[in-house]
Amino acid sequence: MSRVYNFSAGPAVLPEEVLKEAADEMMDYRGCGMSVMEMSHRSKVFDDIIKEAEADLRDLMQIPDNYKVLFLQGGASQQFAAIPMNLMKNRKAGYIVTGQWAKKAFAEAKIYGEAVELASSADKTFSYIPDCSDLDIPEDLDYVYICENNTIYGTKYKTLPNTKGHTLVADVSSCFLSEPVDVSKYGVIYGGVQKNIGPAGVVIVIIREDLIRDDVLPGTPTMLKYKTQADADSLYNTPPCYGIYICGKVFKWLKKMGGLSVMKERNEEKAKILYDFLDQSKLFKGTVRKEDRSLMNVPFVTGDADLDAKFVAEAKAAGFENLKGHRTVGGMRASIYNAMPKEGVEALVAFMKKFEEENA
Ligand SMILES: Cc1ncc(COP(=O)(O)O)c(C=O)c1O
Repeated sequence: MSRVYNFSAGPAVLPEEVLKEAADEMMDYRGCGMSVMEMSHRSKVFDDIIKEAEADLRDLMQIPDNYKVLFLQGGASQQFAAIPMNLMKNRKAGYIVTGQWAKKAFAEAKIYGEAVELASSADKTFSYIPDCSDLDIPEDLDYVYICENNTIYGTKYKTLPNTKGHTLVADVSSCFLSEPVDVSKYGVIYGGVQKNIGPAGVVIVIIREDLIRDDVLPGTPTMLKYKTQADADSLYNTPPCYGIYICGKVFKWLKKMGGLSVMKERNEEKAKILYDFLDQSKLFKGTVRKEDRSLMNVPFVTGDADLDAKFVAEAKAAGFENLKGHRTVGGMRASIYNAMPKEGVEALVAFMKKFEEENA
């Protein structure tokens, strides 16, 4: 078996321990004689799996009792619609546009009501997070929406926006469980799990109970009503069982690692190795304003598209996969999620140094 260092932005690297455990349980999950893939979602065994996964997530994130945890399908993109459908009581919401994903969510919200752009960093190719300490926020907004970590551009909110009392909704797809969060500051926290938590196919929605209502926008499909999913404990229909099972294993792994404060330290240490190198490199440079840098997604460029392509190709040949930047921005991007070991980042930096020397 040979494993590469996988810097993919998602689906992304998972802890080897989790993959091995899943492999061991593939044919016979704990004496059931079948794989988790093959069992009824109404079985006692699966009920234990989903309940334990939720309990471990609650424990890791210290989720208050007045929040529901939903394991859903449709990816983060489906939430771009579900959020306005469920939350736009006044048909008006504010969006802070800090990249492609926030932009998509903003565009989707416009289908359902009035979506107001409260701030944007489009003027500098989304390379920073706008000052959100004193935004002009209309009184009658149903919520303020952010994408907390911008996977493509590599920026992250270091302080949450001052919503002036409005409900905060955050897409945390690419920073989920990378550090502790105060859940009580949000109305909704959601994300696709395929970056930091598990395989594609599961989206986790953590929602304050008072936001789960019957009076959603007319035409909202039953499946997209948070109330349907909350009342049925995510088992209204067949949930993404195998994905939830893997997420559960990752939650256990995170607890074993010491929880989210320890993950934050580890992630800061890993990101520092890469950013310190970029800051002194004569060839490579980071593309993000320093104070807004993400711990998870690190974009960088040489300034020469041909050299970027050469780097990506040589890196691939040396066992560093998926370093090509997003198709909309070019350059390179190293995604260094929870499961990327420090040695992976050190090896990448050593490789970058060598490339710099050879291409000076
Ligand atoms: C921050 C963020 N939001 C949303 C999405 C879209 O997720 P999905 O493909 O699960 O719909 C992505 C995917 O890369 C993302 O990075």
